[in-house]
Amino acid sequence: MASYPATQLDLNWTIVGQGAIGLLAACRLQQQSNTVTLHLRQPNSLDIMFTATDGQQQQYYFSPAVAPYQAVLVPIKSYDVLAGIKELIPLLSTQAQIILSHNGMGTIEQVLPLLLPSQGLWFLTTTHAALKTSATTLQHTGQGQSVLAPLNLAANKQSSAVKQAMTIALGPVQLATDIKPFLWQKLLINAVINPLTAINNCKNGDLLAAKYTKTIQQLVTEVCAVSQATGYKMAIEESVQRVRHVMQATATNFSSMQQDVYHQRQTEINAISGFIVEQGRQYAINTPVNLQLQQQVLQLQQSYGL
Ligand code: PAF
Repeated sequence: MASYPATQLDLNWTIVGQGAIGLLAACRLQQQSNTVTLHLRQPNSLDIMFTATDGQQQQYYFSPAVAPYQAVLVPIKSYDVLAGIKELIPLLSTQAQIILSHNGMGTIEQVLPLLLPSQGLWFLTTTHAALKTSATTLQHTGQGQSVLAPLNLAANKQSSAVKQAMTIALGPVQLATDIKPFLWQKLLINAVINPLTAINNCKNGDLLAAKYTKTIQQLVTEVCAVSQATGYKMAIEESVQRVRHVMQATATNFSSMQQDVYHQRQTEINAISGFIVEQGRQYAINTPVNLQLQQQVLQLQQSYGL
């Protein structure tokens, strides 16, 4: 059995929100006898009927979290992260470990200065897929993997305990020293698939049609130019192939942004296309196609009052 240095804490986990990925992590952690509570807008308990990828079903019960929180998974949308962290800060222990996990980029720089030097910040990016079929039923729809990286020194000190928990929750986990290359790769995929499926109201696989080829090439070229300017080189042709591979692998899925627009919710467009446009401006790189998709998605949001 693995043993941890005396300085490692036994972590009690708090999951923020009741999104599908957060609840997937919560169920799998509780299944392995970890203490898991939920931090919800209203401090309610929650019963979840969980269906694993092999069809096995199990009921889980989560009670509301009680401060101080020791280890917190924050799998909330990019546009909610800053407000969400500010709300959490008075509830965190001085040694708390906080894990961000969302599509898009731009939040890490905002969150880091808000924490104490003794509070660890992490980012986790995952390819697991889960679906809430109702408010109390959750299905693990796709086995995936995750990349986890510490973002400050206090995170490094707890790395075994956090990695062990995230391996149970959303493993297998690759522990990276620098999350940025992984975030750029994910951003590339999201910058192509998410706005195009949202604007055209289609499934991910529909984007493999020839009519999208030119736009995809243009989007990828822009993302690669900006990524390279910020210090992360991605080859254009390889990146096009990576995006097409995800379209094939998730052909029958609706992207998260298509779902957000379909259900008239706020989207993550500003942390995806908007981030690329904004970084492009800083490095004097034109990103007209990303800008056009950002504006189109913002117009869709405006059309339903957001
Ligand atoms: O946001 C999403 O929907 C997902 O990140 C992805 C990979 C585009 C698949 O649908």
